[in-house]
Amino acid sequence: MSHKTRFVALLAAGALMLPLAACASTTPGGAANCNVGITMPTRSLERWINDGEQLQKKLKDAGCTVDLQYADNKVDQQISQIQNQIAGGAKILVIASIDGTALGPVLEEAAKQTVKVIAYDRLINGSPNVDYYATFDNYKVGQLQGNFLKDQLKLDSAAGPINFEPFAGSPDDNNAKFFFAGAWDVLLPYVQKGTLVVPSGKAPKSNDEWTSIGIQSWQSDKAQAEMDNRLSSFYTGGKKVQAVLSPNDSLAIGIVASLKSAGYAPGADYPMITGQDGDKANVKAILAGEQAMTVWKDTRKLGDRVFTMIQQITKGEKVEVNDEKTYNNGVKVVPSYLIEPEVVTKDLVQSKLIDSGFLKASDVGLG
Ligand code: GAL
Repeated sequence: MSHKTRFVALLAAGALMLPLAACASTTPGGAANCNVGITMPTRSLERWINDGEQLQKKLKDAGCTVDLQYADNKVDQQISQIQNQIAGGAKILVIASIDGTALGPVLEEAAKQTVKVIAYDRLINGSPNVDYYATFDNYKVGQLQGNFLKDQLKLDSAAGPINFEPFAGSPDDNNAKFFFAGAWDVLLPYVQKGTLVVPSGKAPKSNDEWTSIGIQSWQSDKAQAEMDNRLSSFYTGGKKVQAVLSPNDSLAIGIVASLKSAGYAPGADYPMITGQDGDKANVKAILAGEQAMTVWKDTRKLGDRVFTMIQQITKGEKVEVNDEKTYNNGVKVVPSYLIEPEVVTKDLVQSKLIDSGFLKASDVGLG
């Protein structure tokens, strides 16, 4: 069903009602044109809860009218939430899209109402009606994961073969393409050289084939099932996996669970596993030696940047960006602001995650 037909169907089905007034919180004296609709993909992945609530609080404290919605990873639900926010008077939309290619029609609506659109963390594709993009340097996230494995496994000097299993993110997530490209540009040469071998055979020959190993909706249980399958089919007769490229923490936690049930335990021949996001469960796994690293993206910085963009828009000021070339959404290059991601290993948990206040020591069993 085309996105246009899907949007018209939603309109006809009356799914697009006007509940906004009910859920919007208006603070006395709130800036009239600071009326913001925020939509996040899901509450089932830890980071989006933080992202949504952090930005909502900053805007409310600044006197803005804010509507925050989560879409349970359902595209139709996100489309109707956005439509409700437009119908309810939002002047600015902040959207962390589930499927960045599905929002064309509803953003046409937004444009008709001169509503500004900020793509949050994930780019919105195929529409001219995206004004700004705020995110982390997604390609660099992958590079950090690839270089971490390269350094830890000493791939330039290692004889090999080293048994390695790569995974990629959700096929409908534009970020997943960049994460994979960043990592694969580092690791593919070692696969081609035979230093890294992929017993499951699931090694994309180029970045364009990344979706062949994509895990839909970043679901931990799907990653666990996929790893179970690879271990039972390709790791028999004492063969051990030695490294896993996991693009984020929700997949890593599924992969760790699969390894555990296959009898792997932290120690000498435990595989090197990457991650992203700094989720509590994964920080615990890092402290327990079950995951080697995570790429930390301080979502507070992303919230701060988007808050600044909103302030600049409401004041009619020039919106500050730092990248006007990387993110072409198929219709235009979207002016973007990229934030630096950082590697966190066991010895950096305290200084980067706890001391900075991103996590509490008690969140990860340290206090
Ligand atoms: C990506 C996001 C990552 C990760 C993943 C799953 O788009 O950039 O931080 O959280 O989605 O939610």
